[in-house]
Amino acid sequence: MLDARGLTVTYGPLVALDDVDFVVPDGSLVGVLGPNGAGKSTLLKALAGLVRPAAGTITFRGERINGRSAHEVAKRGLCLVPEQRGILPGLTVRDNLRLTMERSDNALTRFPALADRLDQPAGTLSGGEQQMLALARALENDPSMLAVDEPSLGLAPRLVSMIESTMHDLHRSGKTIIWVEQYASHVLARADFVYVLGRGKVVWAGEPKELEASPVLVQSYLGDASAGAV
Ligand SMILES: Nc1ncnc2c1ncn2[C@@H]1O[C@H](COP(=O)(O)OP(=O)(O)OP(=O)(O)O)[C@@H](O)[C@H]1O
Ligand SMILES: [Mg+2]
Repeated sequence: MLDARGLTVTYGPLVALDDVDFVVPDGSLVGVLGPNGAGKSTLLKALAGLVRPAAGTITFRGERINGRSAHEVAKRGLCLVPEQRGILPGLTVRDNLRLTMERSDNALTRFPALADRLDQPAGTLSGGEQQMLALARALENDPSMLAVDEPSLGLAPRLVSMIESTMHDLHRSGKTIIWVEQYASHVLARADFVYVLGRGKVVWAGEPKELEASPVLVQSYLGDASAGAV
């Protein structure tokens, strides 16, 4: 469904993504792991059209999308939920969701916790509720692929588990998902395939069970970020 080849992104002199090949089959849940600064968010931004790659190609559903704007990429069905969640804190939940009758059902059925909070400013929601809202917004236009950047960032363990099951449910309901996380264990439990990034390169790629079977691999590639992985 998505096929990126030789993807390179630079910020001035810094090479944030260095000749990365990244493939996401239709209907799969692909995890992206790696320490701070590895290039995970940069990869998602490049795929979603928010940063322009210095080199490489991105093909999405058979069409070259590199060079297209984020809006054009989203229209084709690839939607990013950014690390900072991308919600508008001063607006109410209702306005963030631009709720109409048809839409509200969908978002509120999936995330019933939001139903009681429709008139509350989004900035006053709890971290977990804000992440729910970010996912609900992303799902508004029924994208075929969701790229989610560290949805459990800053959340308590109970909410991290809730995010994990939400991602699992979305996957089961047919979404193709790219899931970026620092906490390996939740991704490894759910992903079909995992990429580990380090300093802008793919340092390991394979099935979660291969990684889980090798504590040495986990330790060397993920270090402290592997908390609970093995
Ligand atoms: N807009 C920018 N300008 C300059 N450097 C940037 C910019 N965005 C990211 N970088 C640098 O690119 C590298 C990769 O950053 P990126 O945000 O992709 O990492 P990450 O893997 O998402 O890290 P984290 O886990 O902390 O979110 C880092 O060294 C970062 O400092
Ligand atoms: Mg990041």
